[in-house]
Amino acid sequence: MVRETTLTPDHLVYPLFLEEGKAIKSEVASLPGNYRWSLDKMLKEIESCLELGINNYIIFPHIADKHKDKLGKYSYSSKNFYLKAAKRIKKEFPQASLISDVALDPYSIDGHDGIVRKGKILNDETLAVLQKMSVAQAAAGFDIIGPSDMMDGRVGAIREALDHKGYSDKSIMSYTAKYASAYYGPFRDALDSAPVAGNDIPKDKKTYQMDPANKYEALIEGELDTQEGADYLMVKPALNYLDVIHVMKENFDLPIAAYHVSGECAMLIAACQKGWLNYEEAMPETLLSIHRAGADCIISYFAKDFAKHYKKQF
Ligand code: PBG
Repeated sequence: MVRETTLTPDHLVYPLFLEEGKAIKSEVASLPGNYRWSLDKMLKEIESCLELGINNYIIFPHIADKHKDKLGKYSYSSKNFYLKAAKRIKKEFPQASLISDVALDPYSIDGHDGIVRKGKILNDETLAVLQKMSVAQAAAGFDIIGPSDMMDGRVGAIREALDHKGYSDKSIMSYTAKYASAYYGPFRDALDSAPVAGNDIPKDKKTYQMDPANKYEALIEGELDTQEGADYLMVKPALNYLDVIHVMKENFDLPIAAYHVSGECAMLIAACQKGWLNYEEAMPETLLSIHRAGADCIISYFAKDFAKHYKKQF
């Protein structure tokens, strides 16, 4: 009667990794129970998730080396299998809401979210690529454009490009407070997208992702994203940053999203596999805590398992 927080599958977004080809379902070693899917298999997976009540999907492409370059040109090419796949998924399941990923890292031979030159990330030159990528994703049918790159000014640049091309109806889920975290490892394994070792390539993303020591800086980022036209403000990762989620929810009227990232899921899966924790209990408690902290919606690799767990209650 007095329970303050209720989590349902409506609040969840399920991340899926897309691979070029057919009949592929290959497990991500560091994220058991998650796969790189070819489109044919992914369509079946989405169908079964829709039946469980999951309506929201965020899709990330695994890009073969042959498509990578320094400028991420394949990201907006008409040949891009990720864009073609979105078109097909929306055709089969118009009720599913699809969130895209905007960043250079899957497409970049340097493994960075922006263009790298002489050891530096070129913020402003990257914006033009992000604009093209976003417009191509909107044209492909993605409902929500998701810039995860952390370049300054990209929300405004993307909003302007979308409106200019007639996509004023598409919304932007900005990775507002994305920290330079150690918890992205399994995701980078899944996409083969880690920064590449090299002389003139920064070895980490600390010049554009946030310092884990900073909470109030998230409010500056939130203010900028709001002014630039974001429709959702995201905090990422989630569990180590519940205080940031809370302060964002207290200070902004826009919906707050939280990304419960790969490493956070992997450590719980590993403990459960060892028999040290009970998955059926720990998994829903974890997601509930993120919602209680103030996240309106949660991106989590546990979305499908949570939906199954939720269904069992009735
Ligand atoms: C990169 C991106 C990352 C994630 C989502 N988009 C990794 C990174 O910044 O290196 C991580 C998500 C996860 O760990 O689940 N654009």
